[in-house]
Amino acid sequence: MLGKLKQLIKSNKSLAYGVRRCRTWLHANLRCGIRNYGHNLQFNRGVVVCFRDLKIGHDVFIGYDCYFGVQNIQIGNYVQLAPKVAITGGDHLIEVIGTPMIKTGLDASREIQATQKGVVIQDDVWVGLGAIIMDGVTIGEGSIIGAGSVVTKDVPPYTIFAGCPAKKIRDRFLNQNDRVEHSKKINGTWHRSVDIK
Ligand SMILES: CC(C)(COP(=O)(O)OP(=O)(O)OC[C@H]1O[C@@H](n2cnc3c(N)ncnc32)[C@H](O)[C@@H]1OP(=O)(O)O)[C@@H](O)C(=O)NCCC(=O)NCCS
Repeated sequence: MLGKLKQLIKSNKSLAYGVRRCRTWLHANLRCGIRNYGHNLQFNRGVVVCFRDLKIGHDVFIGYDCYFGVQNIQIGNYVQLAPKVAITGGDHLIEVIGTPMIKTGLDASREIQATQKGVVIQDDVWVGLGAIIMDGVTIGEGSIIGAGSVVTKDVPPYTIFAGCPAKKIRDRFLNQNDRVEHSKKINGTWHRSVDIK
């Protein structure tokens, strides 16, 4: 019965779209309380959002069990976060004499909230499975982050970073003209015309 229903949803595009929208509404609006997102968001189960100021652009995919533990996170258009991507850092004061670590977290101190910088993920970024992005980082347009990486520094546009700490492994486009043409297209008419899978 359940299998048949799944098949029916898969074979019917508008039904599949409707189910996706319901799922997003359920997980993003109802469970995580976020409001600020664009068209065609896919927001999967198990995502944890610690601050509701999270902003998400159009055509974005947020995989299962992602973790947003920082204030002021901005995610652009056409961004894909694989499952278990985490954004964290700047959440404990570590040098407070006489205060055990468990008492130094964000929930315990407004001071820390004031020092959190936030994270920016620009358009057309793909972050691989289980990557960790630290507070304060900007991931430039069109970049790719390898699975399991720990990103501690800004990532320039159109570069592939991987490892722990993440380092550049190569450019996404070998030819500069391809990069410029691609960037123009995604910032122009292409926007919202494509249904990202
Ligand atoms: C980052 C990635 C895109 C690079 O792919 P690629 O360009 O084909 O890279 P290669 O396999 O040629 O590897 C190039 C080098 O980077 C290293 N590397 C690749 N991925 C890495 C990773 N995730 N972490 C650490 N090092 C990595 C390789 O070991 C290799 O190193 P070497 O030159 O010293 O031998 C890919 O490895 C990756 O991590 N994809 C994410 C997959 C994923 O999470 N999918 C989830 C579904 S949405």
